[in-house]
Amino acid sequence: MKQFDHLMLFFLLHTCCSTLLTLAQAPAAAPVVAPKAAPVLAPASSPAPPGPTNVTKILEKAGQFSTFIRLMKATQVANQLLGQLNNTNNGITIFAPTDSAFSSLKSGTLNSLSDEQKVELIQFHIIPTYLSSAQFQTISNPLRTQAGDSGDGKFPLNVTSTGDTVNITSGLTNTSVSGTVYTDGQLAVYQIDRVLQPLQIFDPRPPAPAPAPAKSKKKKDDDVADSPADDSTDNSKAVRFTMGNNVGLFGFTAIVIALISL
Ligand SMILES: *[C@@H]1O[C@H](CO)[C@@H](O)[C@H](O)[C@H]1NC(C)=O
Ligand SMILES: *[C@@H]1O[C@H](CO)[C@@H](O)[C@H](O)[C@H]1NC(C)=O
Ligand SMILES: *[C@@H]1O[C@H](CO)[C@@H](O)[C@H](O)[C@H]1NC(C)=O
Ligand SMILES: *[C@@H]1O[C@H](CO)[C@@H](O)[C@H](O)[C@H]1NC(C)=O
Ligand SMILES: *[C@@H]1O[C@H](CO)[C@@H](O)[C@H](O)[C@H]1NC(C)=O
Repeated sequence: MKQFDHLMLFFLLHTCCSTLLTLAQAPAAAPVVAPKAAPVLAPASSPAPPGPTNVTKILEKAGQFSTFIRLMKATQVANQLLGQLNNTNNGITIFAPTDSAFSSLKSGTLNSLSDEQKVELIQFHIIPTYLSSAQFQTISNPLRTQAGDSGDGKFPLNVTSTGDTVNITSGLTNTSVSGTVYTDGQLAVYQIDRVLQPLQIFDPRPPAPAPAPAKSKKKKDDDVADSPADDSTDNSKAVRFTMGNNVGLFGFTAIVIALISL
């Protein structure tokens, strides 16, 4: 084994050195670059080199996606896409929310996001694979989005399709594809009329309450400070938590109420 390793190492070194030598000796042979033989009106007659598809341009042409475009630029996702479309063979699928989709978000939603969350929100609308509308029929859920996958309940995105209806759900947002903006076998852009809200950013569930009873006194003080109202507020909270099936918080609230009534 050891001998073999040595042999292998020797072989590698040898190959490496010979390559370097060859390269060092090579320059004489290098300038084989075609000397622009026929610059005859070529640019005018031949079509422009294809290059990566310009998603921004496609969306601009379609109209009604100006917010999505603005966010794609601000988050640099537009540039990422250019690079990806140039390099990937898998293609890209984009669920593009219309301007009215963005304006029907609760006001202040976008402004409340950090820069990182804005990137995630935009990337959540992008699938790193080309999906034709026929493929929606057989797709396996949840999809992996550019923002990440469904691990730890982060970015799940499901697409279900029957007939010509394609439904999309993030767990928080239900919508369906309302039109095909663009498709060329490598890039597909579908219009949606709701912004897909990922659980990772918009999950309304409160964080798990700390069970430590020692802290409950301090917590109680915080509660009082937070709400200038009286005990009736606490009662309504308790009701709300019960409705939300949040047993942990309900239990905690019950303890607080018990403490108050002592
Ligand atoms: C893509 O298109 C937009 C709008 O037409 C243009 O502003 C931008 O420069 C283009 N990007 C590239 C890389 O060609
Ligand atoms: C596209 O990819 C090719 C080959 O990887 C590279 O030479 C070229 O610069 C890329 N173009 C853009 C616009 O990224
Ligand atoms: C899509 O959503 C609509 C409206 O919520 C529903 O009626 C329909 O059954 C759904 N279709 C699929 C394939 O999930
Ligand atoms: C998405 O699909 C997976 C697999 O079918 C399922 O386990 C999950 O509950 C679905 N999530 C939503 C939000 O529909
Ligand atoms: C989305 O659709 C699912 C299944 O039809 C439903 O259970 C859920 O309540 C809907 N969610 C929203 C936010 O509309």
